[in-house]
Amino acid sequence: MTLSPDHPLKDGRTAQSPLITAYRGARPSNRPVWFMRQAGRSLPEYRTAREGVGMLEACLKPELAAEITVQPVRRHGVDAGIFFSDIVIPLKLAGIGVDIAPGVGPVLDRPIRTPEDVAALPRLDDSIFAPIREAVRLTVEELGNTPLIGFAGAPFTVAAYMIEGRPSRDHLGPRTMMHGDPSTWQALMEWTADASGRFLRAQIEAGASAGQLFDSWAGSLGLEDYRRSAAPYSSRALDHVRDLGAPLVHFGTGTSELLGAMYEVGVDAVGVDYRLPIQEANRRLGGRVVLQGNIDPALLAAPWNVLEAHVREIVRHGASAPGHVLNLGHGVPPETDPGVLTRLVELIHSI
Ligand code: CP3
Repeated sequence: MTLSPDHPLKDGRTAQSPLITAYRGARPSNRPVWFMRQAGRSLPEYRTAREGVGMLEACLKPELAAEITVQPVRRHGVDAGIFFSDIVIPLKLAGIGVDIAPGVGPVLDRPIRTPEDVAALPRLDDSIFAPIREAVRLTVEELGNTPLIGFAGAPFTVAAYMIEGRPSRDHLGPRTMMHGDPSTWQALMEWTADASGRFLRAQIEAGASAGQLFDSWAGSLGLEDYRRSAAPYSSRALDHVRDLGAPLVHFGTGTSELLGAMYEVGVDAVGVDYRLPIQEANRRLGGRVVLQGNIDPALLAAPWNVLEAHVREIVRHGASAPGHVLNLGHGVPPETDPGVLTRLVELIHSI
């Protein structure tokens, strides 16, 4: 199935937008910028909207999720909305006991560790994504010509939460399982790839104009483990949406050594974290790949002249890639002054 004729990519709303033009490897007149975690605690209007509503509960209320998604677009004039949701939403919708503990992150009632745990994972059915489709529909109606980016967690990052049952620093659980019990690992990663892939498909079909796969913890893997035990499942997740023709972006942190392998999963653009200079990322990818990034989130709290010089440097070097979408090297820290983000968008649009 392809996109319906009234999809924003098909009916003239977003196909020529600066974001989609850059993702497709061309140079738009206006340099596109958006921020990972642009919807969130840095915005007073977000804190008001979320009062008394749990994180995952908020994601599943279509009107609220749409409102929160649009807030940063309205305020900052960024070139894209990123759908307000979470990488564990497919698990929640499939019936797995998971919540987001404030200030901690995803926590499961029962970690998934044994072959029996994996065999007992629920069967996936696309009807579970009805509230997601509805939220996306409401969001794109309001966004008009500004594209919405849909997203999903890459299987490795989602499986890391499932196995550990909570956030962890070194991800020993998944790294042990991939070597110690490869068949259980494979079954878990296939289930997770399909859950993330169907979640992303629901968003793109309902109106998102691009898709981003977040492999936030891929950087805890060496290249060989990444290629063998993570990348094939990221590719499998994206197989769910390739026929739709929306541009796809792949982002992770600590991935300086993995960028080539992340591109080879089959995407249009690669997100670069703040650790690697963008010109070095471009060099490692042979100058052939559209890049997204990589303003250091730490500099959002530095004096303006320091931040401005840093951003100008990234814009200058980003220009040697076939396309460049400005973003942070990871998410907006909650304590960020939102005025700095608005000013940054103005600066980037003026260069
Ligand atoms: O603006 C956006 O980027 C939109 C939505 C978005 C959220 N989570 C909302 C959210 C996106 C794209 C994500 C993806 C996500 N979720 C990732 C990948 C991106 C990354 O940051 O590396 C990961 C690893 C998760 C899992 C997760 N969810 C974590 C680690 C946390 C942080 C816990 C905390 O409170 O610090 C969450 C919660 C979460 N997801 C929040 C938001 C806005 C904060 C919850 C709140 O506002 O109370």
